[in-house]
Formats: sequence, structure tokens, C-alpha cells
Amino acid sequence: MDEERVRERIEELRRLIERYNYEYYVLDQPTVSDAEYDALMNELRRLEAEHPELITPDSPTQRVGAPPSPAFRTVRHEIPMLSLSNVYNEQELRDWAERVYRLAGRRDVEFVTEPKVDGSAVSILYRHGVYERGATRGDGVQGEDVTPNLRTVRSIPLRLHDGDGVCVPDVLEVRGEVYMRKSDFQRLNRQRGDAGEVLFANPRNAAAGSLRQLDPNITAARPLRFYAWDVGIVEGATHDGSHTADLDMLRALGIPTVPDYRVWHSIDEVWAECQRWLELREELDFEIDGVVVKVNDEALQAELGVVAREPRWATAYKFPAIQKTTVLRDIEINVGRTGSLNPVAILDPVEIGGVIVRRATLHNEDEIRRLGLLLGDTVVVQRSGDVIPKIIAVVVANRDGDERPFVMPDHCPVCGAAAVRLEGEVMRYCVNAACPARLREQVRHFVSRSAMDIEGFGSRLAEQFVDLGLIRDLADIYELDWDRVRQLEGFGDKRIANLKASIEASKTRPLSRLLHALGIRHVGEGNARLLAGHFRTMDRLAAASLEELRAVPGIGPVVAESVYDFFREPQNLALIERLRAHGLRMTEEDGAAPPTDSRLAGKTVVLTGRLESMTRERAEELLRRMGAIVTSSVSRKTDLVIVGQDPGSKATRAKELGVTTLDEAAFLELINQGADGTGP
Ligand code: IVH
Repeated sequence: MDEERVRERIEELRRLIERYNYEYYVLDQPTVSDAEYDALMNELRRLEAEHPELITPDSPTQRVGAPPSPAFRTVRHEIPMLSLSNVYNEQELRDWAERVYRLAGRRDVEFVTEPKVDGSAVSILYRHGVYERGATRGDGVQGEDVTPNLRTVRSIPLRLHDGDGVCVPDVLEVRGEVYMRKSDFQRLNRQRGDAGEVLFANPRNAAAGSLRQLDPNITAARPLRFYAWDVGIVEGATHDGSHTADLDMLRALGIPTVPDYRVWHSIDEVWAECQRWLELREELDFEIDGVVVKVNDEALQAELGVVAREPRWATAYKFPAIQKTTVLRDIEINVGRTGSLNPVAILDPVEIGGVIVRRATLHNEDEIRRLGLLLGDTVVVQRSGDVIPKIIAVVVANRDGDERPFVMPDHCPVCGAAAVRLEGEVMRYCVNAACPARLREQVRHFVSRSAMDIEGFGSRLAEQFVDLGLIRDLADIYELDWDRVRQLEGFGDKRIANLKASIEASKTRPLSRLLHALGIRHVGEGNARLLAGHFRTMDRLAAASLEELRAVPGIGPVVAESVYDFFREPQNLALIERLRAHGLRMTEEDGAAPPTDSRLAGKTVVLTGRLESMTRERAEELLRRMGAIVTSSVSRKTDLVIVGQDPGSKATRAKELGVTTLDEAAFLELINQGADGTGP
């Protein structure tokens, strides 16, 4: 190739790569595969290696490789980077808006809402469309020069798009958030744990820490991303004077903005939008800690002005915190119904999202090692939604030398038998099949609401009966020595009659509940339903071969093996026979066999987003009645995804995999067809 042809090809490759970056990071709609993208990058790298004189700083190959520097230089923000006032509830939001209306002298004000992305604020300067400088926010007036570091962030274009009807300003300062996706953060922490490195507490710390590296090669290896939320300096461009017009311009120039910014005309709408984001929070793959509300009109922004470095034209509605720090006092061992030794963190009580947290799950000894936990450590605890609180990380900086390591016991703390960890297992198990702790948990689980639902038989009673030797295995629940029970404190005739009645009533529970109640490993409510629905009777299930179990839709190989093993254990078969002798039902509902003629029979279906016409539970039940297998994650095996309002990543995944999706209207139509039996 002659020099001119090479120059042209290099230019073409750069444009293509930028185009694909734009589609990927801004439009979220990639049109080429990773492999095709990599091939273009490799070709460009090769040509540039052969013709180093053609390398320019805005080439996509120049994102890595800058040498470490001894310190960051200071950057002065010509226009200060402000912070935001906070509001924590609807009333405070309304008070904020009232002040805006009062100062504006009118009530027809346009508001913009944006997610408040939890990352690290930066300023990026483009001159004549080329990336020139990147800086951290610092104290808002002075930040640190992190130009080589931000250059490595792939969602930040090194050269702005022209075309698309926008002209590239002579000077453009873009402001926004460097953040890390939750999924990337988890992967990074897993790698750090494996390498024995300190874990990051959350994606925000990971983003901030990765950005402020004196060696940009470290930054380059971290999965950082960028979302713009404002412009600073603009020279040589005209625009129509609104915040959304600025964001639209940034997108047209190829810069990813905060997603889903929207304009509203009343604070009622703004509040509803804040609630929408709050509900969406957990489903998003990036952390948000609130919603930013801004006045859209820039002339009005200027009129409203700034007090104490906070603009009066914007505020942040902050979500309740889901993470707090507290002190790990101790680690207790609970013995589960499978005999597993489960470490539980005992914490100094701390309020998180309106609930006092005193304990957190630690899963297993590997988790303790992965976190690098010492007794007495300050730890970051997270409680999100209904999830059991868990320890996310250690605040190593708070250590004072008094912390002590925790040693996992090699004996069961309840019965004293050996507790062993088998090859390939993460848990340690008490070897004593008759360990009272195991039995206690088994009984507790058996009588619980989601299992046999024996009313009046709570966990305290389960514990008491086991400890007194009244229950030595699950079948004993149906053979209680009532004379002995009568002698216990608090057991009058009435209580005994009630308890007898509810034990009697539990005998009619369908097979699916009994299977769940038996506590077979890996068989929770969902799998129990799949198995009972498929085999219909205990005998058929017990006789099933490993192949037959594996062939049940929705049942994976691990579950199949666990069920198969359970029914090969003579003790378990004896238990089932005793339960049968007591008259327990060993079949699924009569006549409730899922239809095999429905369009959904045997199909794997996933629900995502909110349905207007019914709850998620109701929708699942209807689907099951039509013979569908309802699962929670989208894979290649999924046949159908029902997409409600504000769907999350599952809808995107379905699109990626080419899985059929139905909106709510189409779903309702399908149900109605199924209900009147005219469906195909
Ligand atoms: S606007 C004057 N918009 O929140 C406007 N900030 O608590 C200044 N942040 O320092 C900020 N998402 O780091 C704005 N959509 C968003 C944001 C956002 C996250 C961060 C930003 C700022 C901090 C203020």
C-alpha cells in the first residue's frame, strides 16, 4: 500500500471504530460483534505500528500506554463545579419547587429529571472536537489533571462526531460521572478476592479509586464508563438555551449522557418519576443514589442563581441509603437443616433503610476469606429490598491492630461431632445425621408456611419438641405423645385441640408442598412444583431415573442428581413410608394437570417489568395454569418474555438473544384465548 492509501485506510478505520463506539456507548445498539470490532482495532494497530508517523493523539489506539506520573497536576475549573442540595421526601421536594415558583414569579416551569449516577464527577475538555484534558471535580474549584486516565475510558470519545446536523463547538467542556457497572464491579471484586487484594466497597469507590491512579495503565485495565450530565464552557456554538438541548447536543456529538432524561410540567409528575426510578433502582446495571431535578430553562437558571455553591435551580432527591458501616463483633455458627455450618456476622446494631440490622449472612468460610474479615473490623453492610443483609467489604483503614482472625470450627458447635468439608464443597457439614440442630431446622422448615403450613406450630415449638425428644424425625410430628405434651407449660385442652387439627389439616397438602417440606437439597418451592407437576405422584418421582429427572423442563442436572440421590437413601424412603402410613397425601392436585394443548404448555416464560392489570404473582399463577414453566432469568432456552412497564435488563437480554417478547396487551389476549379454550 502506498503512503496515501495507508493514510486513507487509517482514517477510515478510525471513523468506523468511533461509529461503533457511538452505537455501543451512546445508542446502546451495537451493530457489529466484538470480534468484528477487535479485527478493526487490530488492523489499525498494525498499520500504525508500521507507520508511526501517522499516529495522532485522538486515535482509538491511544487510549492506553501513557507512562505513570509522579503526581497529579492541579486544574482550575473556570466555571466552578457546583454541588447539589438534597431533598429526602415528597414534602421537601414540593418546598424546593415552591421556592423556584416564588423566585421565578410564575408556575409554568419545566423540570428535567435524570438519574443521579453514583460515581465520580469529572470535567472533560474538547478543543476543535478533539479530547484535550480531563480533570476530577476536586473541591469544585480545583481538581486534579487526570487526562491520560480519562483517555482510557472507552465511552469517552477522543474525537467528537460531526455531521448529524450539529456543529462541533470550538471549545466544549463536558461534565459528568465516571462510573462502573454493577456487573463489572462484581467481576472486578471477584478477581481481586481471588488475587488476595482488598475489595472495593461499592462501584463508586471502585470508580473513584480507578480514576485517581498515577499509572494510567491501571485505569485502563478497569471497566470504567462515563455518563455526561451537563456542559461547562462552550465556545463557538449556538443553542436554544435549555438543559435538555445541551444534553441532546452532547448525544449528537457522540457523548453518552445520563439515560432517560425527561421533561415535566408539574411537581406531581416529577415526584412520580422519582418513585419510578426508586423502583427501577435494583434492576439497573449501574448504581443510582437518587434523582436529580433541574429547571430546564437556562435563562431561568441564571435568574435563580447559586447560594453556597449549590444552585437554586437544581436539587437531588436522595434515596434511602442501602449501605452503612458498622463493627463486626463476632461470628456465630448456625447449623442448618442439611447440617451445614453457616457463619453469621454479629454486628453493632445499625439502621439501614428504616430497619435495624444486627446480623448479616456470611455464606461460608471462603466468603470470610474473600472479604478478608477480622473480628472487630469496621465493615460495610448492605441491605437492599427484602434481601438478607450482607457484608460487602472491610474498611481496612479503620483497623487499629486489635482485630483478631476468625477460625472456622472443625466440630459441630451443637452436637460436638466432626464437621467436615468435602472436596469441591464450599460448606462444612456436621457428620451426625441425628444432630439436634439439624433436626430442629428440618422440623422448623417442615411446619413453616411455605411448606406444610401447620398453623400454631412455630419455630419455638419445633425447637422445644426436638429438645425434649418428642420429635426424633419428621414423621414424629404425626405421632406426638400428647400426654407428654399436655404436661408442658402452656398446653391446655384448647391449644392441643387446635394443634391436632392443624397437624391433621396438613395431611392434605399437595405433593409439591410435601417435596419442598422434606428439605431435599436444591429443591425449593419452584423446583418442587416443577417436579410434582411433571410426575404427579411420589411413587413415580421416587422411581424416576436420572435421565428422566434431567429431562423435566426447568430442572437442571444438579437438582436432578440431588433428587435422585435422595430417593436412593433407605432412611428417606422409610420416612416417606411412615408419612404415607399417617395418611399424608402423596399426589399433586386432582384434575389440575396443566393443559398440554395450551399454546404455553411446556414453554419457559420470564416476566419482567410491572403489569398494569395484575400483580406479578397472579400473572405467574395464570401462566403456570396454562402449563408454562415460569423462570426468573432469560437464556437461550427461554421461549417467551412478557415485558411490562419499565422493564429491566431482562428485556434487553431477550432482544439480544432473539427471544420472542409480548407486551401486556398481547399477554392478556393470550390468557383470554387460553381461558375460553379457543386458543390454538
Ligand atoms: S448535576 C449544578 N446531574 O451528584 C449541577 N449531578 O451531589 C451539578 N451526579 O457532583 C451536578 N448524577 O457528581 C448532576 N444527573 C446528574 C448527576 C449528578 C450524579 C453527582 C455529581 C455531583 C453530585 C452532587
